[in-house]
Amino acid sequence: MGMSDRCRFVEARAEGLVGVVDRSVDVVTTRSVLIYVSRKRDAFAEFFRVLRPGGRLSIFEPINRRMFPEPHNLFWGWDVSAVAGLRDQVVAEFERTQRPELKAMFDFDETDLVSLARDVGFDTVELYLHLGESRPRRGDWESLLHSSPNPLAPTLLEAVTASLDRRQATHFLSALQASVEAGVGRCRTAGAYLRARKSDSPIESQG
Ligand SMILES: C[S@@+](CC[C@H](N)C(=O)[O-])C[C@H]1O[C@@H](n2cnc3c(N)ncnc32)[C@H](O)[C@@H]1O
Repeated sequence: MGMSDRCRFVEARAEGLVGVVDRSVDVVTTRSVLIYVSRKRDAFAEFFRVLRPGGRLSIFEPINRRMFPEPHNLFWGWDVSAVAGLRDQVVAEFERTQRPELKAMFDFDETDLVSLARDVGFDTVELYLHLGESRPRRGDWESLLHSSPNPLAPTLLEAVTASLDRRQATHFLSALQASVEAGVGRCRTAGAYLRARKSDSPIESQG
C-alpha cells in the first residue's frame, strides 16, 4: 500500500512489550491473541503501560467457556446423537492429549476480561458479548478427517483411532460423516468485544 515508510514493527510478546516505551501509544488493538497468552494480567498491564493518558484499548477474544463443553449429542457442532457414547470417548481423547499450554484458551470468560482491564487501571471499560447459534455448514469429509482443532492437537482420525476399536471407529465415523455431509447439528459461537480507556488525568493514569 506504499505505507511502509510510515510504519515501524516491533516484535514482542503481549505480556512484555519490550521496545515500546511508557505512555507512547494512542491505541492498542488485538484480535484472538490473548486466548493464547497464559499471563493475561501481564498483557493487560503492558497495554495500560504503553498507552498515553486518554489512550484506548480495543480487543476481540473468542470465549471458549461459552462454546465448550458441547452437549453429548454434538461433536464440533455436528449431530452425533446416535453414537453419543462413542463421541464421549473421542472427546475424552482430545482432553487427555491436550497440551498444558492450551489451558490459556479455556481459563477465562468475558467477566475475567472486564476485571483484568479494570484491575490494571483502565478508567472506563465496556464489553459486548456476542452469542450465536446456527446450523453447521456442510463440510468436506476428507479434510475434516485430517483436521485438528489446533496445531497442537491430534487430528480427528488420530483421536478416533486412539480411542475406539475398529468396529466402533467405523460406526462413529459413518454417523458423523452423514451429519457433516448433510449439515445437521447446531454450532455455537461466542466472542467478546472489549474496549477501555485510560484516564486523561495524570494522577489517575499512574496504573
Ligand atoms: C489466531 S491468530 C490471530 C491473528 C490476527 N490477529 C487475526 O485476527 O487474524 C493468533 C495470533 O496470536 C499471536 N500470539 C500468540 N501468543 C502471543 C503472545 N504471547 N504475544 C503476542 N502475540 C501472540 C500469534 O503469533 C498469532 O499471530
